[in-house]
Amino acid sequence: MTRPLTLLGIESSCDETAAAVLRLENGRATLLSDVIHTQLEEHAPYQGVVPEIAARAHAEIADRTVAAAMREAGIGYDALDGVAATSGPGLIGGVLVGMMTGKAIAQAAGKPFIAVNHLEGHALSPRLGGDCAFPYLLLLVSGGHCQFLEVRGLGQYTRLGSTIDDAVGEAFDKTAKLLGLGFPGGPAVERLAKSGDGQAFAFPRPLMNRPGLDMSFAGLKTAVARAAAEAPLTDQRLADLCASFQAAVCDVLGGKARRALEGFDPGKGESVRFVVAGGVASNQAIRTALETEAVSCGGQLIAPPLRHCTDNAAMIALVGAERMAAGLIDGAGDLGAGARPRWPLDEASATRDPAYATGLKGAKA
Ligand code: KG4
Ligand code: ZN
Repeated sequence: MTRPLTLLGIESSCDETAAAVLRLENGRATLLSDVIHTQLEEHAPYQGVVPEIAARAHAEIADRTVAAAMREAGIGYDALDGVAATSGPGLIGGVLVGMMTGKAIAQAAGKPFIAVNHLEGHALSPRLGGDCAFPYLLLLVSGGHCQFLEVRGLGQYTRLGSTIDDAVGEAFDKTAKLLGLGFPGGPAVERLAKSGDGQAFAFPRPLMNRPGLDMSFAGLKTAVARAAAEAPLTDQRLADLCASFQAAVCDVLGGKARRALEGFDPGKGESVRFVVAGGVASNQAIRTALETEAVSCGGQLIAPPLRHCTDNAAMIALVGAERMAAGLIDGAGDLGAGARPRWPLDEASATRDPAYATGLKGAKA
């Protein structure tokens, strides 16, 4: 039996301002509140997230969001055991807002502050549901991230492969933009793809037949642009372009997932838990492709509820609580930590391949 821990979590690394209060007791997480404000309306006119607009919007509502989460949880700041906030990677203006809010609350309440890696939040997010024991294989697919990770335990993450250019959600958004479908693009592309023919266009499957688990989506988007410019965009042609693009993404993610599953040994004769998280995990065709691979390898696909697949503060509070429970936080915690626009989850492999830590790959990896 361990003492229950109550944590406030804050998330502001992209276009969601979120705060949540979570209680961790004997390894089980209970959410006392889970508030998420999305900035979709602010960014929609620009068909993408504008960092300056995001930072300003976070600053405008961060305190109200935290207050709402505390009110919903029905507790005062003195009842908290710690305050956790995303400290990177992400858009630096937004990260700073959430981090400073968290540090100020922690200091005023005399509680430890925990600087959380946003990617660790996603990596542990399936554990919010309580039925996802270590180890598991994770595919994180969102507008900002695209990587396979082996999650062996708290703090034990191995990056197995990631995109070398665009994240997969970014490819959906750029494809939608060039086809004039609005933002965010993923849901619009999926909707149109339903009435299209996935074989109408033979789009490339980048890096599909190369060894390893790295992925690439920039060329695919360019191929769609070229095909779209060739003839007038009738409704059917538009649907065929979306379906063919989505079919290529499904093939690449499915093919790489199969390779990852074949190389993953959970040990002790257990079957594989394969988790998909991130906004793109809401795409039904992609889920089906991943599930087919998981099942054919004798494993199961676990997809957290969409609310916890996309950016949220519950997963940030969970990381804080799990780190406290493991005795990794003393004194004032990480009060001296700075915001990090790039922060690879797997520092060891980032050191071996510095492109992942500092270069273009870093943001998506
Ligand atoms: O996780 P998320 O909310 O935010 C981050 O990027 O961190 O993911 C948003 C991304 C966007 O690129 C959006 O187009 C994509 O997820 N997305 C989808 C679908 N719903 C959202 N992509 C494909 N199909 C969908 N149904
Ligand atoms: Zn994210």
